[in-house]
Amino acid sequence: MECMEAIKGRRSIRKFKDRAVGKELIEELLHAAQMAPSAGNLHARDFVVVTDKATKQMLTKAALGQAFIEQAPVVIVFVANTERSSRIYKSRGELYAVQDATASVQNLLLAAHANGLATCWVGAFDESAVCEILGLPKKTRPIAIIPVGYADEAPTAPRRMALDKVVHRETW
Ligand SMILES: Cc1cc2nc3c(=O)[nH]c(=O)nc-3n(C[C@H](O)[C@H](O)[C@H](O)COP(=O)(O)O)c2cc1C
Repeated sequence: MECMEAIKGRRSIRKFKDRAVGKELIEELLHAAQMAPSAGNLHARDFVVVTDKATKQMLTKAALGQAFIEQAPVVIVFVANTERSSRIYKSRGELYAVQDATASVQNLLLAAHANGLATCWVGAFDESAVCEILGLPKKTRPIAIIPVGYADEAPTAPRRMALDKVVHRETW
């Protein structure tokens, strides 16, 4: 799929088919995530791949009951790894780790769409609950929960703000 086609065609999907996703496809998506830029090429991000039903149910609960999370066959939690980044970048490393992780989320969303898969970026969740469920170490922070599966809906594209409302030329 051509890049602009993938960017324009990707949608947040909140209804998944009861259909498994092959391990090779998930590996392909994880490679795409890892190809995203990172500050100093330090890759200050980690990916927790969850297929266990009980863990997915706990993640759903931590994410305010957004039930489509547990309906997806695979859920990938993106984690900012401040430990890896702040060794070099000190306090600035906190921001870089979040940026490294979010860049990799977007790569994965696009790669998933290009491979016929559906995703939804979930950011509304109880951080400390997700840390506990996944046993995340200190100096890490979960930044997105991404259910991955086959779409069972085809929503139309939500409107975007007009560019002239958000683009500033030369100065604000
Ligand atoms: C940081 C962030 C957090 C989000 N959190 C949620 C969420 O918790 N639940 C949800 O259903 N969608 C969530 N979304 C998806 C947005 O609602 C969605 O991207 C937006 O409505 C535009 O739709 P589209 O992705 O189909 O273009 C989130 C998106 C981002 C970037």
